[in-house]
Amino acid sequence: MAKVSLAGGNTFCPQALYLYGTIKEDGRADYGLFCWCCYCFAGDAMKFVACIAEDNLTRDRIRATGMLSATVVTEDLLSRADFCGCTDGRTCDKESVIASDRGDVLPVPVPRDGMWTLELRVEDTLHPENQADSEIYICSIVNVRAEEVLTGDTPFDEKMAALKPVVTLGGKYYAVGTQSLGDWGIPMKLL
Ligand SMILES: Cc1cc2nc3c(=O)[nH]c(=O)nc-3n(C[C@H](O)[C@H](O)[C@H](O)COP(=O)(O)O)c2cc1C
Repeated sequence: MAKVSLAGGNTFCPQALYLYGTIKEDGRADYGLFCWCCYCFAGDAMKFVACIAEDNLTRDRIRATGMLSATVVTEDLLSRADFCGCTDGRTCDKESVIASDRGDVLPVPVPRDGMWTLELRVEDTLHPENQADSEIYICSIVNVRAEEVLTGDTPFDEKMAALKPVVTLGGKYYAVGTQSLGDWGIPMKLL
């Protein structure tokens, strides 16, 4: 098959989706939808890494409070998550769309219908290319607030069927599906 070279981009790179929850000055919740994020490992602990590269309320509130929640976007949450990604939190009360509780450990808003929510404290902020607008937050995962069905001895495929996470590619949303292709170390046995 012929290969072609393209400008830098991520069109066919699957990205996980999270709703970031922050607390507004008036104490109400704000939520934005985010996909420029990943995990890293440092100092004997897993960290969450998030990039916000535009002027929005979520960035203001992370700067002001140094904390946020990150909730895995599920098929059930998708309409509300899409709304939060396409609507400006400065002119819209998103708590009226997403029923909220407070985190179990940090005073961050968490979606009541979230199934897997990280409570995050920002430990470091990086500015790539010295751009003031673009910030990369390296966060410690202070708590994971999980739906009980995702814990315990239930087979992982059944937990995935309950979670139904959503990813994004090429400006669209896709279901992950629940068909496992094998545990780590198993597909290589087909070589
Ligand atoms: C699918 C999707 C993914 C997004 N990912 C990011 C991201 O990773 N970083 C970012 O700065 N903005 C991202 N955005 C834009 C924010 O969601 C948008 O700025 C939103 O208004 C933030 O909410 P707020 O205004 O309440 O802060 C994304 C939007 C969509 C629809």
